Amino acid sequence: MQILGIDIGGSGIKGALVNIETGELITERHRIQTPQPATPQNIKDTVKELIDFFDYEGMVGVGFPAVVQNGIVLSAVNIDKSWIETPINKFLSEGTGCNIVALNDADAAGIAEVSFGAAKDKNGLILLLTIGTGIGSALFINQILLANTELGHLEFSDSTIEKYASDAIRKKEELSWKKWGKRFNEALAYYERLFYPDLFIIGGGISKKIERFEEFISIKTPFAPAELLNNAGLIGAAIFAYQNK
Ligand code: BGC
Repeated sequence: MQILGIDIGGSGIKGALVNIETGELITERHRIQTPQPATPQNIKDTVKELIDFFDYEGMVGVGFPAVVQNGIVLSAVNIDKSWIETPINKFLSEGTGCNIVALNDADAAGIAEVSFGAAKDKNGLILLLTIGTGIGSALFINQILLANTELGHLEFSDSTIEKYASDAIRKKEELSWKKWGKRFNEALAYYERLFYPDLFIIGGGISKKIERFEEFISIKTPFAPAELLNNAGLIGAAIFAYQNK
């Protein structure tokens, strides 16, 4: 079974056809710059462009960087505020001719890792963090997702974890890997004290660069990079769309 998975991020919108039985990509990933402002209409046009690029018809899974509850967007931190209260499934389906099912992007990445990656067959409490423009979270207990946890927005160090330790902040403040790694370690230690997870999975663009900062991570909880790397979001979105069709 092949489903188009799309991952909407703060800087890029990526899509690929996913074999949802194996979690493998059937096509190369295609990336389009996230339009600015990232309004509903602009994002819809980009999603349509991706669908046309793959000459695709049918069901589409979309990972979206906000709270998505029952097909409605309820928050907007790194996207245009006009998304709030938008019925995203209905809105993106109309005009693209596809049946679109959206969920939070980090939850999508978590679903992929639980199905085919670093959390496959693993029970206990697993916290996946996606580190990119923002910090997303997906929390699993015995493989069951507690959706929309938004743990990047926890207050921390006079700010929030996301504003203190995201990859965008590393770039903006030109932090060395050491400086950023120490900050990230503080964030992990904070999550560790709150949840005592059995495993952390580190996802997002940073998952490809874990060797640059792992020496600064001193938490007790085991941690592993997302095995599906930066494709986890679009793979999980495709699986979720199929499960919720
Ligand atoms: C958003 C989350 C999202 C994360 C990663 C945060 O700013 O609030 O919904 O999962 O960024 O994209």
